[in-house]
Amino acid sequence: MTYQNILSEIKTNILYITINREKKLNALNKETLAELADVIAYAEETGEVRAVLLTGAGEKAFVAGADISEFAAYSTAEGEELARVGQAKVFNAIENSSKPFLAAINGFALGGGLELAMACHIRVAAETARMGLPEVTLGLIPGYGGTQRLTHLVGKGRALEMITTAEMITAEKAEKIGLVNHVVPLAELINKAEEILNKIKERAPLAIASAIKSVNAAKDKDGFETEIKEFGNCFGTEDFKEGVNAFLEKRRSEFKGR
Ligand code: COA
Repeated sequence: MTYQNILSEIKTNILYITINREKKLNALNKETLAELADVIAYAEETGEVRAVLLTGAGEKAFVAGADISEFAAYSTAEGEELARVGQAKVFNAIENSSKPFLAAINGFALGGGLELAMACHIRVAAETARMGLPEVTLGLIPGYGGTQRLTHLVGKGRALEMITTAEMITAEKAEKIGLVNHVVPLAELINKAEEILNKIKERAPLAIASAIKSVNAAKDKDGFETEIKEFGNCFGTEDFKEGVNAFLEKRRSEFKGR
């Protein structure tokens, strides 16, 4: 398969997906999301694929979030649609896949980038990786399942601190609070990811699929709908326009609470 924004390759039953917009810190624009949706569906239907390793190109970023330049002028309804379609075709599709997805977090995993990593079943981070959900600095909230998945992974108190302060945390801290499973030097990241996936590959595929489905069933789904609606509402605020414009104009934002 040939894509413009991602690299994909199957080696020894592992599908390697690399988000490949290094100059934009692998930010998720519409094309990248569409290509991801396509390759995720391909992974699901292709028997040769037993596991998926997802990473970002370069050493700086896994994914620095959704592409802010694309949604700057969105309305409430467009914001809601962005979250709903993205969640269904990419983020929930990964989480509900019968094949195990592992995120190898090679650098910044911010906003939609951390949400992408959290949709995966397992996370391994490089020591240099930094993670956070900075959406409130833009007048937004996470819209790709982040409020739900972070809460499930680290608990309500830590999730609310990360989301409301918008601060990034180190890989070491992420491991301590259960956000990532392992932290390794950047040079060993892919080896560590392969070591885990090679073990899983040896196990019974239908049992792996059942395990994923059962573990996923442990969470309450209702919150996702609340998040989609609230995410859409943010697009109707002046603060959102100010936050996005400030980012694009490379200046500090001045929020008015309107
Ligand atoms: N959307 C669109 N473009 C982005 C982006 C995003 N989420 N994150 C980074 N980029 C772009 C920058 O605009 C810049 O493009 P340019 O070279 O054309 O100006 C390029 O990627 C490099 O980023 P830059 O900000 O110059 O790198 P930095 O090392 O100074 O800072 C970050 C790195 C990750 C701290 C910073 O890029 C950042 O805060 N990104 C946004 C993170 C975010 O808010 N994500 C949530 C989105 S909902």
